[in-house]
Amino acid sequence: MTTADIGLIGLAVMGSNLALNIAEKGYTIAVHNRTASKIDDFVVTAKEQGLEGKVVPEADLAKFIQTVKRPRSIIIMVKAGQPVDDMIEQLLPHLEAGDAILECGNSLYTDTNRRFAYLQPKGIGYLGIGVSGGEEGARHGPSIMVGGAEQQWKNAQPILEAISAKFNGEPCCAYLGEGGAGHFVKTIHNGIEYGDMQMIAEVYGVMRDGLGMNPVAASEVFKEWNKGPLNSYLIEITGHVLAAVEPKTGKPLVELILDKAGQKGTGVWSAIAAQMLGVPATAIEGAVAARSISSRKEERVAAEAVYGKRTGGKSSVSLVDLEKALLAGKIVSYAQGFAVMAKASEENGWNLPLATIAKIWRAGCIIRSRFLDQMSAAYAKGGATNLLMVPDFVTIMKDAHKSLRTTVAAAAIDEFPLICLSASLAYFDSYRQALGTANLTQGQRDFFGAHGFILIDREGEQHGKWPSTLGK
Ligand code: 6PG
Repeated sequence: MTTADIGLIGLAVMGSNLALNIAEKGYTIAVHNRTASKIDDFVVTAKEQGLEGKVVPEADLAKFIQTVKRPRSIIIMVKAGQPVDDMIEQLLPHLEAGDAILECGNSLYTDTNRRFAYLQPKGIGYLGIGVSGGEEGARHGPSIMVGGAEQQWKNAQPILEAISAKFNGEPCCAYLGEGGAGHFVKTIHNGIEYGDMQMIAEVYGVMRDGLGMNPVAASEVFKEWNKGPLNSYLIEITGHVLAAVEPKTGKPLVELILDKAGQKGTGVWSAIAAQMLGVPATAIEGAVAARSISSRKEERVAAEAVYGKRTGGKSSVSLVDLEKALLAGKIVSYAQGFAVMAKASEENGWNLPLATIAKIWRAGCIIRSRFLDQMSAAYAKGGATNLLMVPDFVTIMKDAHKSLRTTVAAAAIDEFPLICLSASLAYFDSYRQALGTANLTQGQRDFFGAHGFILIDREGEQHGKWPSTLGK
């Protein structure tokens, strides 16, 4: 019996919440899971939420497929990597030309490119979809970044738009390009997420150790900042995290959490992609590195025993400077992330719509912010791809970079590690420096490897007449 508008496989947290979201929007959804008991649990939850009439549970994979209307859209929400390939192979014998697999995990975009190319000649559409917003987003409105088969996107578009977050009534969901375009954009979203989180953590470090602020006082500052240009989900939750109390001890929760950050891979992928594309993304790389350093707790403890605790006293930096430093660092980090996307778009022939990407990140996703509204408006005017050259942001940056400088300089003297903020500042200073120092690098390259250089006053590649260093 064909009754469902769409199917979903994989009823873990994200899958269940997406399925409930779809049912709530009035669509009938067939659900399947390898472990059948999860299907029963899901039905109970759907019932509790008054949505059981919209759910078609099916433990048999072949029957599950048959319940979905053609052309079929089958969402798969399984662990990234081999499980996705295994699931594709299981689905293939049951699918018909024109059907589509919608893969909504955090997959590596090159895997998505490969799967798209594998399924295309078989007449099966493959959509690699980035879904951001965590559990709550999946249930009530995530940001949805779609890449892959355009025809099958059109089939699924009404449902995906209906379940997505809305910003001023506009769905935060868009088709971004063929193959792995959607997953690539999600990866860069996560790289930017890492940058935002790390810069916030660095500022918290200055507040805690340099300004002697307790978590409650720091929380109040973040709550205040959330009313200004930094207004964003991550600043908002920072206020909540800092204010939380651990019930057993009554102590601030944040002070009891071990300072080792986890990571599942998307930050690393965005840093690798940036490097491979030859686009500098130092803020994102700094954020990834900061997580790796954080995880080496034992080494850090040993190194502190060797070098001693920081000797710097109270920091001279003001809260006004910290707020602006965060804004400047954020502009640089987003400039880098968007430059990576622009280059990837060129290399992969995706034609990524940068203004649309900023738009669909305005609500639902982890990096949602007021800033992205400004950014989408600025990009919509066209012109420069690097945010640092977009007029509205030039105005902000001309002022804010001074605070970033003050903050990074004070932190260096006071011995605070601002790995991401200092990377942002160095990028900014390199980016706007007309005369750099690579002339020397080129001279060195020619000296030891005859790699050649260009002289500013003539055409063509030149070489120097270098002395031999042998036998000296
Ligand atoms: C989102 C998030 C999400 C990601 C987590 C964990 O957009 O909803 O990016 O997709 O999985 O943030 O990522 P890490 O474990 O790498 O921090």
